[in-house]
Amino acid sequence: LGGPVLTAQQKEVNLSEANVPAYTLPDPLRMANGKTVTTAKQWREVQRPYIYHLFETNVYGRFPRTRTQMTYKTTHTDVQALDGLATCKQVTLYLEQADTSAQLHLLLYLPNKARGRVPLFLGMNFYGNQSVINDPSIPITPGYTVTGPGIVDHRATAASRGSQASQWPVRDIVSRGYGLATFFYGEVEADKADGWETGIRSRLKDVLHIQPHEWSAMGVWAWALCRALDYLQQDPAVDPRQVILIGHSRLGKAALWAGASDPRFAMVISNESGEGGAALSKRWYGETVAVITRVFPHWFSPVYKTYAHNTDALPVDQHMLLALIAPRPLYVASAAGDQWSDPKGEFLSAKNAEPVYRLFGKRGLGNAGFPSVQRPTGEFVRYHIRSGKHDVTAYDWEQYLQFAGKHCSLP
Ligand code: GCU
Repeated sequence: LGGPVLTAQQKEVNLSEANVPAYTLPDPLRMANGKTVTTAKQWREVQRPYIYHLFETNVYGRFPRTRTQMTYKTTHTDVQALDGLATCKQVTLYLEQADTSAQLHLLLYLPNKARGRVPLFLGMNFYGNQSVINDPSIPITPGYTVTGPGIVDHRATAASRGSQASQWPVRDIVSRGYGLATFFYGEVEADKADGWETGIRSRLKDVLHIQPHEWSAMGVWAWALCRALDYLQQDPAVDPRQVILIGHSRLGKAALWAGASDPRFAMVISNESGEGGAALSKRWYGETVAVITRVFPHWFSPVYKTYAHNTDALPVDQHMLLALIAPRPLYVASAAGDQWSDPKGEFLSAKNAEPVYRLFGKRGLGNAGFPSVQRPTGEFVRYHIRSGKHDVTAYDWEQYLQFAGKHCSLP
C-alpha cells in the first residue's frame, strides 16, 4: 500500500525534533593529516586556510581577492539629521573605475556628539535604503527587489519608505554612540536565479578574474560588504578597527561569509540566518540543503547542491564557518517562532565553534544548555532565542548594543 516510506533525510523539510536523524559533525580542530590542532598559531597558519578553502570549494564558491579601482563620492550630507543627533551621509561607491555603472549607495548615520572615530554597525538591507528610515532625501532604489511592503512587481515604490524602520532603530544606535551604515543588497546582484547575468559577477568578471559560476550571489553580497568596509576604513568619522557586521536571514548568511572572508571586520552578528548561515546543515531540521539549493540555486556554489540529499558527505558544517570568525566576538540569535531557521541548530553550531575560541583563550558558550527564551548566554560567542517570529526586533538590537558595549570602546 502507498509508496515507499521516506526517511526524514529523503524528505526535504522536517519540523519534528524526534525525526532528526543521527549526524556527525566534523571536528574543526582535526587537520587534513589526521592530527589535532593544539595552538592558535597552527589554527591561523594551517587549519583556518584549509577550512576556509573547503567552504569556498563546497558551499559559497571562490572569493575574489583581486582589488578593483574604487572611488567614492558623497552625494548628500545632513549635519542635523534625527533632530541634530546625527550626521546623515549618502555616499556612492564606484566599485571599479572602468565601469561606472558598478555602484553601491551607502547610507550612513554618525553620532554628532562623538569625540572621535566611532564603532559602527554595517548591514545590508532587503528593500533599498529608503526602506530603512522615512526620509525623502533618500532616493528610492530602482533595482529589482524581492516581494515586500511597498514593492510592486519587484520595484520599490514610495510606499516602501520607512517600511523596515522597526528593524533599523537608527536613533537608538546613534544615541548609544555607534554609527550605522547600510546599503541595498540587490545593487550588486538581483536576488533571483538569473540575477548574475546583469550583476557584478558578470560585469566585473574580467577585472576580478573570476567567472560567474565560480562564486555565488552569497559570495558577491559578502564581497560588497568588504567593499563597503574599504570605504568605511578611510572615513574619518569611523573607527576602522571597530566595524561590526550585522545581517538578518539571507543577509545574515552573507554577513557570516563576509566575516569569515575578511578579518578586518571586528565582530559579526547573525540574526536568524538559518540554513546556509549559522544553522547546522547536517542536522535535518527546518530548512535543509535540499530545499535551499532548489529554491535559491543562485545563493551558493553549484557544488553545494550536490550535497542536497547527502549532507553526510559534506566535509564541513556551519559551526566551522562560525569558527572562522574566532577570536572575534560573534553573536548568533534565533526566534522561537522561526523554526524554519532551526534555532537549536543555530545554537549547536555556535556551541561547536567553542574549541577554536578556546585556542585563543576565549570563552564562547562554554557548557551552556539550550536556553529558554529571552535568556542570552555566552561571552565571546553569545546566543539568544527570543519569542516571536522571523524578524529583527528592539529586543534583538538591545542585546547587540549591550554585546557591542562589552567588546568595543567608544571614543
Ligand atoms: C527564505 C529562505 C531562508 C532565508 C529567508 C530570508 O525563508 O528559505 O533561507 O533566510 O528566506 O532571507 O528571509
